[in-house]
Amino acid sequence: MRLDRFLSGQTALSRRELTELIRGGSVTVNDAVIRRPETAVSPERDRITLQGRAVQYSEFHHFLLHKPAGVITASRDPKQKTVLDLLGSADRLPKLAPAGRLDLDTEGLLLITDDGTRAHKMISPKHHTAKYYLAQLAEPYDTEYEALFRSGILLREGGSEEPCLPAECMQIGERLAVLELHEGKYHQVRRMFAAAGNHVTHLLRFQVGALCLPPDLPAGGYINILNKDADKAFQNSSISDAAAFCARHYSSYWIKDLK
Ligand code: URA
Repeated sequence: MRLDRFLSGQTALSRRELTELIRGGSVTVNDAVIRRPETAVSPERDRITLQGRAVQYSEFHHFLLHKPAGVITASRDPKQKTVLDLLGSADRLPKLAPAGRLDLDTEGLLLITDDGTRAHKMISPKHHTAKYYLAQLAEPYDTEYEALFRSGILLREGGSEEPCLPAECMQIGERLAVLELHEGKYHQVRRMFAAAGNHVTHLLRFQVGALCLPPDLPAGGYINILNKDADKAFQNSSISDAAAFCARHYSSYWIKDLK
């Protein structure tokens, strides 16, 4: 792999900035200053430094973000703040993009990754990745939601009504529900409860597969996670485990009415 290509995959600097730094003598390979951007390097074997700091190689990079409300899920936008704007400048690597989307007003777990295959697997309903949401409701929870959602509630899509994939629902407070979905239709949780005669006033995604939103990660905060941690998004969980995690960790967060 070329030295400039190696560096552009591991840093947020542009190719032009990197070329200048390499030509200016700011890069070493195995302790020797290298000034040719096209020099071949081995990411696994060579020790590479940039401005005196070792550059660790990783094929893919993943950030687990606690998306706050009021920020859009997009890579860039001319007017509004995006989830990528929440990353520190050194973390804004070139190919990063959100894996899936949360609505403007929805908070919670969002994976930002430069691994397109992984992102696709998380989003595609074919892979059945479970996503867990905590919904605060305007009206008290009704146990009838459980059968209704399990049977595939109908949502209006264009001119017709389409069934959702079967979803699990569980009560954890008078007006609090945990929902397990295996797809991501537009405003799905909000529309499912609206179709069932209720209204979602607050929505948090706290888990994807077995990958949980760390309870001590504040809204707007993020952590760098390894491949093995990102892989937890594809491991099985269950609504009862997810609901227990949620009740244990989010009861003192924005939820005030847990029983
Ligand atoms: N369902 C919604 O209504 N909004 C989201 O952001 C995610 C799921």
